[in-house]
Amino acid sequence: MKVQGKDYRTVWMEGSSVKTINQPLLPHRFEVVELPTHRDTAEAISKMVLRGAGAIGAAAGFGMAQVFMEAPAAEPARAEYLAAGYHRLRSTRPTAHDLFYALDRVRAAGEKAPHEEAGAAAAAEAQAIADRYVEAGRLIGEHGQRLIKDGGRVLTHCNAGWLAFVDWGSALAPVYFAHRAGRKVHVLADETRPRGQGARLTAWELQQEGVPVEIIADNAAGLLMRRGQIDLVLTGADRIAANGDVANKIGTYEKALCAQANRVPFYVAAPLSTFDPDCPDGDHIPIERRDDDEVLYAYGRTDAGELTRVRLAPEGVAAINYAFDVTPAELIAGIITEKGIIRADAGEIARITGSEE
Ligand code: MRU
Repeated sequence: MKVQGKDYRTVWMEGSSVKTINQPLLPHRFEVVELPTHRDTAEAISKMVLRGAGAIGAAAGFGMAQVFMEAPAAEPARAEYLAAGYHRLRSTRPTAHDLFYALDRVRAAGEKAPHEEAGAAAAAEAQAIADRYVEAGRLIGEHGQRLIKDGGRVLTHCNAGWLAFVDWGSALAPVYFAHRAGRKVHVLADETRPRGQGARLTAWELQQEGVPVEIIADNAAGLLMRRGQIDLVLTGADRIAANGDVANKIGTYEKALCAQANRVPFYVAAPLSTFDPDCPDGDHIPIERRDDDEVLYAYGRTDAGELTRVRLAPEGVAAINYAFDVTPAELIAGIITEKGIIRADAGEIARITGSEE
């Protein structure tokens, strides 16, 4: 996707470094950050320098390739280094299934290769995963665009656009396709407290692409749905269980309930790498709990141009900061994948994930 006319991916590899767009600085500053070692890449994932299921997956894959490039040649130090690096990357964030998907694939590719070729083999596999995200986003866009009619008003939560993947994104890909096909699309972006991915990232991405967008407070969608001002809800997913339950950014479940009550179709968009066939239902999805400070403070730019954080809550008050919630399958009208739109049920999911080579 383009930033001020120049094509960018969200995360990529240059030599042995991983490079990514520094997302906490957006929309106020556009900066590319270099991550020279797998430790830097792991820290960038856990501190959310980059975030979003596919971007996390691609970065974890590149990070695992860095582990192979950095590992000493002699055993047992080599095996210990590989295991520690894999574990470090695995422990960065617990919910997004793509992280584990990419890590395991890249580790397997590196282990299969002769030692002196392992770094290159792992990097090639990580690149293939990143490219696959781009293609999956494009196909999700193609399949999903038919849900958006001319003049359609789409509500989205958090950021499931190209910043959350490598290009195109999941939930925003159909929006980009409909917009490029010349249809009028209007997006309502939930601000998505506490980290503001909707207000900061979704609004910025759509603005770069020229798609009309308005930010709404997290608690405004009920009123708008009741008034008939939302035609469709489109969100991404961090992990989809075998029965069709979907973990996504905290607040998604409330939007799905509200959509059902107001007969607004609620669709999820995600590539097959987000499906976890080993997870029977949403109750088995690990839900990340992050630092309470994310709720107690807000981060932004002062009118004088300084990026800073300010405290919102009284001193001494604690907070509860779960990063994700689970939307039960029965609230979901369909899941848009690179292989088409499927029902959120166990049979459909087994069919589509089983056909995966
Ligand atoms: O905590 P984040 O920003 O990594 O969470 C991302 C989300 O939950 C997004 O909503 C998204 O749908 C999943 S990534 C496409």
